[in-house]
Amino acid sequence: MAEIDYQRWTGTVADAADPLLALCTAVFGTFDPAYLRGRVPHIADADLWLAIDQGEWVGFKLGYRRGEGLLYSWLGGVDPRMRGQGVASELMRRQHDHAAAAGYRFVETSTRAANNPMILLNLRHGFHVAGFEIDARGIAVVIQRKELKLDRA
Ligand SMILES: CC(C)(COP(=O)(O)OP(=O)(O)OC[C@H]1O[C@@H](n2cnc3c(N)ncnc32)[C@H](O)[C@@H]1OP(=O)(O)O)[C@@H](O)C(=O)NCCC(=O)NCCS
Repeated sequence: MAEIDYQRWTGTVADAADPLLALCTAVFGTFDPAYLRGRVPHIADADLWLAIDQGEWVGFKLGYRRGEGLLYSWLGGVDPRMRGQGVASELMRRQHDHAAAAGYRFVETSTRAANNPMILLNLRHGFHVAGFEIDARGIAVVIQRKELKLDRA
């Protein structure tokens, strides 16, 4: 199995936008750059985690602050070639450990109700279902939330 390097991005998300958009296209199949570029200027305390395989970005997790103690985990995914090897799990573990150490109490995320792999991954990592809604585009979305503890991943 490949040796994956996990890193927290220390620059701005704007600086990471080009390689991140290339990764988003690989992860999601198609991806509208405006979705990322439009929101990035408005987010507070961006938190970007990367999985890197021999210099190539193969997975990411991007969150930001949505309140005093709440980290909103917005976007994430793994290159299809690298799935099923625990990459998303490791990115999530690191995101949660870092958030807890930074003083966040909760992490929240919204996932399309049809996205079983992501919903299961979240449940595996201690999220509970906290809500359900139909979003602005008419898509059913499940909201999941996890209370962070300093003493565990
Ligand atoms: C969801 C996704 C991030 C999982 O990445 P991954 O690196 O393959 O996941 P992992 O190998 O870390 O899997 C961890 C756990 O997630 C769950 N899981 C992951 N893929 C799954 C699948 N296809 N079906 C069911 N459960 C799945 C399992 O519980 C798995 O644990 P297990 O292997 O012990 O059963 C990946 O499929 C992906 O990038 N999907 C497209 C992007 C996306 O939907 N992002 C979310 C919206 S922003």
